[in-house]
Amino acid sequence: MRSLRDALGQFATGVAVVTTATWDGERAGVTVNSFTSVSLDPPLVLWCLSLRAPSEPVFRRAGRFAVNVLAADQDGLSRRFATPGPDKFAGVETCLSACGLPVLAGTVAFFLCRTLTAHDGGDHRIFVGEVERFERRGGEPLVFHSGRYRALSACA
Ligand SMILES: Cc1cc2nc3c(=O)[nH]c(=O)nc-3n(C[C@H](O)[C@H](O)[C@H](O)COP(=O)(O)O)c2cc1C
Repeated sequence: MRSLRDALGQFATGVAVVTTATWDGERAGVTVNSFTSVSLDPPLVLWCLSLRAPSEPVFRRAGRFAVNVLAADQDGLSRRFATPGPDKFAGVETCLSACGLPVLAGTVAFFLCRTLTAHDGGDHRIFVGEVERFERRGGEPLVFHSGRYRALSACA
């Protein structure tokens, strides 16, 4: 298991905080690096959430989510949303989308999605979402590789 994790960790990724809110106001936010694009037409993305995550039922109930792609200086936010806690959003700068999803400030991009399907994937749930709105804000992204946060270095 450890050796598999270490090998998978060689695949460098960005880092996102996926947020949601239910219609009755319950919020959840989780740091993930399993986010990826699936399709452009229709516009689909996916991410995977551990079945053991306390927030898993909240994402299923909400039926929608926002993917907030973190900037290079947002490793603190990544740590916060990767640590279980009663209110991860306390003191975090957010705004509410028109459909009531919490959107984090200072990110390089966000995608507002409606959950299309949720598949069983071993010990994770695979959420596939249709992108309804997105914004590219730009800037340097946060990178995760081999269990550590990195910054991009310029390529010639
Ligand atoms: C860089 C990074 C990437 C992560 N990616 C995932 C992921 O893709 N899926 C997942 O279920 N947990 C992932 N985690 C762990 C969750 O963020 C962590 O378990 C979190 O506490 C879950 O939120 P919850 O306890 O509020 O449900 C990642 C953690 C870090 C630091």
